[in-house]
Amino acid sequence: MTLTRTPHSDVDLFSDEVLVDPYPVYRDLRERGGAVHLSALDVWAVPRYADVRRALGDPATFSSSGIALNEPVNQMLVGSVLASDPPLHDALRAVLSEQLGPRAVRPLQAGIADRADRLVEAMIEQGAFDAVTDLAVAFPFSVVFDLIGIPDEVRPKMLGWADATFTVFGPMNGRTAAGLGAIGEMFGWLGTLRAEDLAEGSMGRAVFTAADQGRIAPESCIPLLSAYTAAGLDTTINAIANAVHLLATHPEQWDLVRADPGLVPSTLNEVLRHDAPVQGFGRRVTTEVEIDGTTIAAGSQVLLLYGSGNRDERHYADPDRFDVTRNPVDHLSFGYGTHTCAGQALARIEAQSVIAALAGRVRRFHLGEPVRHLNNVVRGLERLPVEGLELG
Ligand code: HEM
Repeated sequence: MTLTRTPHSDVDLFSDEVLVDPYPVYRDLRERGGAVHLSALDVWAVPRYADVRRALGDPATFSSSGIALNEPVNQMLVGSVLASDPPLHDALRAVLSEQLGPRAVRPLQAGIADRADRLVEAMIEQGAFDAVTDLAVAFPFSVVFDLIGIPDEVRPKMLGWADATFTVFGPMNGRTAAGLGAIGEMFGWLGTLRAEDLAEGSMGRAVFTAADQGRIAPESCIPLLSAYTAAGLDTTINAIANAVHLLATHPEQWDLVRADPGLVPSTLNEVLRHDAPVQGFGRRVTTEVEIDGTTIAAGSQVLLLYGSGNRDERHYADPDRFDVTRNPVDHLSFGYGTHTCAGQALARIEAQSVIAALAGRVRRFHLGEPVRHLNNVVRGLERLPVEGLELG
């Protein structure tokens, strides 16, 4: 088959214009086919729900050694949970699951809900605030830093590091090049860490304990710690920011949540479906594979577009509509299969606590102009000014 007959597109998925609003481009890609060759990058985009899910369920064919769209970062991530395939992956993941699984985090629920209530109360007292910096960033920072046991002095650096961690998964563009410096700094700091630097009883300390017990290799400690510091922050931050934005701009949906707090879990699922915090991750194809009638050669780089699969009209009716009663439990925003998000139980507790705390107090939000944050992978906001609240 010649390239002209193969579904392809010249679009730059990582340009500023597309990052601001990728959804029309995703729709176009879905119409072109189940696998679309992105000529500018020599990458195969996989934009439809069913194909993304099938690929995520087949790690032997779709290897995470190609999680990033550039080789320097894939090399940097060798040995990390995110970039490894079974069986190494499963040994690393077991350590995380012990700490982050639903049973492990359930006891944290009441304390996290209490923190959310206190933070929201403080915002209400302030009257005007920025829902990104004062709420969406401040909240996961306070929760996750304490859980991992991170020393106070590095906390201010973390936001830049967390943002860079995701942007460098993109192609080698300006954003990735700029992010590499921050990543180097983060790994430099992680490399100096000893068990006793992390608070006793913390999740971070448990990683060193697992190495002491011989369950993981000592050299796995740093990549595993980076999974906490990086994966757990920017994702949750932007899920919360997107939630406030969507709920404030859809007052009729907000009224439904306020009338029935039982809708909070469904609301979060719909926020995550509507605007996936992680828009997509890469995979490398290990053997020749066919997607929707298109043959993809062994060794090719693919990009699984979670953000597009979540808007696939083949899977969700009226997918661009934000509907808190939809409860799309099968959305792709936490991935699926082997690498499905290890921190999703914690993320759900955090984000649901914030939504519930707001629902109990705020009738209407009056927003200023939101500013989008541009990152190669994460969809979220830089600023979301809340200029006033109606309470009740
Ligand atoms: C709303 C918030 C979050 C979103 C949207 C999210 C999204 C994702 C996605 C899409 C993956 C799959 C990666 C793949 O397909 O290769 C993933 C994996 C992962 N996430 Fe999350 N995440 C969130 C919160 C968290 C939190 C709070 C933590 C930890 C504190 C965390 C830790 C991880 C780890 C360790 C992995 C790697 C799992 C593996 O490779 O087996 N995430 N996340």
